[in-house]
Amino acid sequence: MNKLKTPAGNSISFLHLKSDSVDAPTIVFVHGFPLDHSMWNQQHPLQSIANLVIPDLPGFGESDSIEDLSMQSLSDQMAMLLDNLSAGDVIFCGLSMGGYIGWEFAYRHRDRLSGLICSNSRATSDDETTARARRVAASQVLKSGSTPVAEAMREKLFSPATIEQNPAVVHSVAETICKTAPETIAAAQLAMAQRKDHSDLLRTLEIPSLVIAGAEDRITPTPEMETMANQISGATFVEIADSGHLSPLENASEFNTAVANWLTERKPQQSSL
Ligand code: MLT
Repeated sequence: MNKLKTPAGNSISFLHLKSDSVDAPTIVFVHGFPLDHSMWNQQHPLQSIANLVIPDLPGFGESDSIEDLSMQSLSDQMAMLLDNLSAGDVIFCGLSMGGYIGWEFAYRHRDRLSGLICSNSRATSDDETTARARRVAASQVLKSGSTPVAEAMREKLFSPATIEQNPAVVHSVAETICKTAPETIAAAQLAMAQRKDHSDLLRTLEIPSLVIAGAEDRITPTPEMETMANQISGATFVEIADSGHLSPLENASEFNTAVANWLTERKPQQSSL
């Protein structure tokens, strides 16, 4: 993997897959919690039509941790990486926690965005019950380590079909979670509990957007995601069959087709203001 050393001294690991296609857009793929760049391995074929930047967020995968894992700080780290690559305008594709970072990126670095792909995520913040559960989970992981987190997330992340028919995917995700430091998992839980509500941003987004849901996602269910997509002017909504919360891994071919079709069809949106 490539490494960027930031002015603060932490290093960010990332893959940079450049396309041979002329005028190819750049998509930055930002992983969910508590995963790393490898969750996007099946999206590499999109390199035929787009430049792909696939980082490990600070503290995850091979990237150094940083003190502030807030969604704001993580969006700034992504902007710094893209600046360093002279990437120009990018399409930000975030899954779940990656999507939360995407709203912050749209809020703080809007001039850098040429499109947004929101996969299995939401724009609202946590209610108090969810935030409290995250605080409990954060203190638990510091005591018990990452392995129980991997076990607990298995049923939540995947569709029954994936669990039955694709043990390799289930196993590789569990491995990634087990490798993630308990301190990072705890810090990310606390940061997500404090994230801002970006519902108001939806109506003012003036960029082509694609919202992708998993038909059997229990964390961010399809009806909630479709309602969110309807609030973004001109957004395309796609539901991926046979998929739980990890659509890009569980049904990569439908996911990649949705992205490729949207890239072909997307046009600048009219302002909704
Ligand atoms: C994720 O996949 O990133 C998580 O489900 C996000 C969350 O816990 O809200």
